[in-house]
Order: sequence, then C-alpha cells, then structure tokens
Amino acid sequence: MREISLTLVLLLAGCTEPAPAPGPDSAPAPAPEGKAAQEAFLASYRVFMHPRCLNCHPAGDAPLQGEDSHLHAQHVTRGPDGKGLFALRCSSCHQDRNLPGPNTPPGHPSWHLPGPEAPLVFEGRSPAQLAAQLKDPKQTGGKTLEQVLEHVEKDGLVLACFSPPEGRPPPPLSHAEFARAFRTWVEAGAPVPE
Ligand code: HEC
Ligand code: HEC
Repeated sequence: MREISLTLVLLLAGCTEPAPAPGPDSAPAPAPEGKAAQEAFLASYRVFMHPRCLNCHPAGDAPLQGEDSHLHAQHVTRGPDGKGLFALRCSSCHQDRNLPGPNTPPGHPSWHLPGPEAPLVFEGRSPAQLAAQLKDPKQTGGKTLEQVLEHVEKDGLVLACFSPPEGRPPPPLSHAEFARAFRTWVEAGAPVPE
C-alpha cells in the first residue's frame, strides 16, 4: 500500500525517468507526459478491477460477490433497469446504508447494476480495452469522458465502495488517490495504454 502510494505520488509529480537523449537514428521517444498518463491509468485500473467495483460491473447479467467475484447468490439478475427482477429487487436486501456484521449486503440508496443498454463491463477487460470503453460514449450510455471523470470523483456509489461493510477490504488506493490518477489520465488526453 505504502509502495503504491509512493509510486503514484512520484508519477503524479512527473518524476519519470529521464528519456535517453535520442541519437540520430533512434525512433522518437514517447512523450514523458504520455507515459506518466498511461501509468496513472494503470494505477486507476487496479481500482476498477477490484471486487468492490468489478462485482457491479460484470460481463454477464448477474452481479458478482466476494473477493473471488463469484456469481451472486439467489439467482439475482440485472433486470430491465439494473435494479433486479420481481421479488429479487436489489433494494429488498440492500438497504440505504451498510448493515452491521459480516456477510451483510452493502448499502446505498441507489444500489443497482448499470442497465442492459449500457452495462459498462469491467470484468475481463484489459487496461487497453477498459480505457477505450470509458472513452467511447456509445459504451458509456452517452457519457463524455468529462462526465465519466465527474462520476469517478463524485458519485455516491463510487465513494461508498471505499467504506465497505465489515470483512470486505476496500480498493487498493484511497478515493483521493484513485480520482487524482484518473484525472491525470483524462487531462493528458486519455492515451490508451499499450
Ligand atoms: C452497486 C453497484 C455498483 C458499484 C459497487 C460500482 N458501480 Fe460503477 N456504476 C454503477 C451503475 C448503476 C452505473 C451507471 C450509472 C448510474 O446509474 O449511476 C455505474 C457507472 C460507472 C461508470 C461510468 C460513468 C457513468 O457516469 O456512468 C464508472 C466509470 C464507474 N461506474 C466506476 C465505478 C468504480 C470505480 C467503482 C468502485 C470504486 C464502481 N463503479 C462501483 C453501479 C456500481
Ligand atoms: C435476497 C437478498 C439480496 C438481493 C435481492 C440482492 N442482493 Fe446483493 N448481496 C446480498 C448479500 C447478503 C450480499 C453480501 C454477501 C456476502 O458478503 O457474503 C450481497 C452482495 C452483493 C454484492 C457484492 C458487494 C461487494 O462489495 O463485493 C453486489 C455487487 C451485489 N450484492 C449486487 C446486487 C444487485 C445489483 C442486486 C439487484 C440486481 C442485488 N445485489 C440483490 C443480498 C442480496
């Protein structure tokens, strides 16, 4: 954890290794800001792919659970609005706040999956695939990258993930570190990592 924050601080401060002086025949070195931006995306990627986030951004039509992101019990599914089907509406079990005790459903007033028209899949996405997806309004339900950044910085569900219920570890960066890394990437023109 300390190591990660340190790397992040260094890269956000722009302390990347100096590029070697280009010889007459060498290919142009990638712009150092571009490299730092890609590294910032890779730092934020570790949060996107963490179970606290990924479990609501599955490849299939059911939420996932636990540190191994297994299929949600009780055959809960997305439903037409992301809020579940029939009696298995998310809000039947997920309250507006976390409940005390281990293995309780995490809570938030708008606990639900993205709708089927823009499911915003994180599960199984490589860094390049995820970066390309977050930049493509056709895949974000019409959101621009600026709006995606705003969601990362301010959305209540995103923030709630950093205070999980008892027994569930939070993502590997603090929310501030995560949001700063994502902003660094966006402001540098959001280069898709190689
Ligand atoms: C309870 C389920 C849930 C969890 C947990 C969750 N999300 Fe989401 N996420 C959603 C929903 C639903 C949307 C679709 C937009 C909306 O309805 O707010 C979404 C949309 C997004 C978007 C697209 C931007 C947008 O405005 O639509 C990003 C980026 C995102 N989430 C990141 C995260 C990150 C990072 C975490 C973990 C820190 C996370 N999500 C955890 C449900 C969740
Ligand atoms: C029948 C009750 C019930 C319903 C309905 C339900 N959940 Fe859950 N959910 C739970 C419980 C209990 C847990 C916690 C399990 C644990 O920690 O062992 C949980 C955990 C989760 C997790 C994992 C959270 C994490 O941080 O890893 C996600 C994601 C989730 N639910 C999403 C949903 C969504 C989305 C819906 C509606 C489509 C829904 N659930 C409907 C009971 C339910």
